[in-house]
Amino acid sequence: MKKVLLTSAIALALIACGGSDSEKKTETTTPPTSMVETPKTDTAAAALSPELQKGVDLIAKSDCLTCHKVSEKLIGPAYQDVANKYENTPATVKMLAEKVKKGGKGVWGEVAMTPHDTLSLENAEEMVKYVLSLKK
Ligand code: HEC
Repeated sequence: MKKVLLTSAIALALIACGGSDSEKKTETTTPPTSMVETPKTDTAAAALSPELQKGVDLIAKSDCLTCHKVSEKLIGPAYQDVANKYENTPATVKMLAEKVKKGGKGVWGEVAMTPHDTLSLENAEEMVKYVLSLKK
């Protein structure tokens, strides 16, 4: 009996690589539209503490703004410049409040600040506290 061992028929299974190209990657990256931020209309004034707001109000009611602006020199120095010049200490607040009351010149130039006799020292200090808070 001839046993033809033709069992060596190793079928090289040449797997046809042309497989299925149907890789359907449905990348639907639509951003969630639920996170729409509503910007708060916060003005600079709203960010002030009530303490500083008092100074702002007093300044607005007085004549300060005819000679002073926050960031620009007018007749008097810009409040920001005043704030940058001094350290914000109780002693400075008192000294500047007295200057506002009495008026005077010589620190920023030869133009004098008019006296504000009718201001209480307390209110003048509130104003100065606000001015010094503008330090940059
Ligand atoms: C007539 C214009 C005028 C008005 C009104 C005026 N200022 Fe002045 N202010 C000046 C001038 C000018 C100077 C600079 C004085 C100097 O060189 O010493 C000055 C300086 C200052 C300083 C800095 C003082 C220093 O010694 O560094 C402060 C603080 C100030 N003013 C606050 C006020 C406040 C608060 C008011 C309102 C109550 C006011 N000013 C109203 C003209 C004015």
